[in-house]
Amino acid sequence: VNHMTTVVKVGGSLIEEGWLQSVLTDVRNTLSTEEAVLVHGGGQKVTEIAERLGKQQRFVTSPSGVRSRYTDSETAEIYSMVMSGLVAGRIVTGFAKLGVRAFSLSGIDASCIIAERKRRLLIINERGRKMAIEGGFTGKVTSVDSSILRWILGLGLLPVVSPVAIGGEGEILNIDGDRAASAIASSLPADTLLILTNVEGVVLRGKTVPHLSCNEARSLLPEIGPGMDKKVIASVEAVQNGVKRSIIAPGNRSKAIADAIRLKCGTVIEDG
Ligand SMILES: Nc1ncnc2c1ncn2[C@@H]1O[C@H](COP(=O)(O)OP(=O)(O)O)[C@@H](O)[C@H]1O
Ligand SMILES: [Mg+2]
Repeated sequence: VNHMTTVVKVGGSLIEEGWLQSVLTDVRNTLSTEEAVLVHGGGQKVTEIAERLGKQQRFVTSPSGVRSRYTDSETAEIYSMVMSGLVAGRIVTGFAKLGVRAFSLSGIDASCIIAERKRRLLIINERGRKMAIEGGFTGKVTSVDSSILRWILGLGLLPVVSPVAIGGEGEILNIDGDRAASAIASSLPADTLLILTNVEGVVLRGKTVPHLSCNEARSLLPEIGPGMDKKVIASVEAVQNGVKRSIIAPGNRSKAIADAIRLKCGTVIEDG
C-alpha cells in the first residue's frame, strides 16, 4: 500500500487544555490510510516545571515580533527533560491506551535534528530598543536526517518527536516545535504538514482564512500575532521545501484530523 505521509504537530496549548487523548484518537483513526509522524510542543509545561524547580523563565521578543524562551544552559536541561521525558512519555502512554505502539525520540537521538546555535540574539528590550544579547541554547534547524524516522515507521511504530536538537558541538538546543515539524515534513518528505492548535486556523479581521498561497501568507505575517506567526512561517517553509500542503487547524474538537485533511476546517497553505 502506498500510504500518504502526514506530519502532525500537536501544540502544547491543546495538551494543556485536555485535548491530547482526543488528538491521539484522531491520529489513530487515520492510520489505516495515512502514515503519521507526531511532533509535539509543550512550552507551558516547561515553564511550569522550571518554575517549580526554582528556575525563573524569561521570554524575549525579536525585532520582527516573534516571542521565544530565553534558554540558558540550565533552562536547556530542564527543557530537554520535560519535553523528552514528561510530555513525550504522556503521548506514548496515551497512544498505548489506544493500542498504538509509539516510539519517542528527540532530535538529539541518532542526531536526527541538527541545529545551529544562535550565538547572538537580536531582541527588543523593555524600552523598545533593539539590542544583541548572548544567544544561549536556542537553535535554528539546519538539517534533519529522517532515516531513523523511516526505520521506526518500517517497524510499524509511530514516531513521536520532541523539539530538541543537537548542535555542532554536541550541545542540547531548544528548537521551535512548529519549525521542527516543518523540517521533518520536508525531510521525509511528507505529503501534508498538519499543525493542530487551539484556534480555528489563521484568523484575520475576525474570520478564519480557508486558503493562503505562500506569497499571501508571507505578506500577511505582520498582521498575525505571536504563536500563530511561527505556524505560518513553518507552513510556508514546508511547502517551499517539497511538502504538498500545510494545514493549520483546530485540534480541540472530535474528528479534528479527518475534517482538517478534507479541508472542512482550518487554513491550507499551498504554493500558487
Ligand atoms: N491571526 C491569528 N489567528 C489565529 N490565532 C492567532 C493569531 N494571532 C495570534 N494567535 C494566537 O496563536 C495561538 C496559537 O499559538 P500557540 O499559543 O503557540 O499554540 P500551540 O501551543 O498550538 O503552539 C492562538 O491561541 C492565538 O491566541
Ligand atoms: Mg506555539
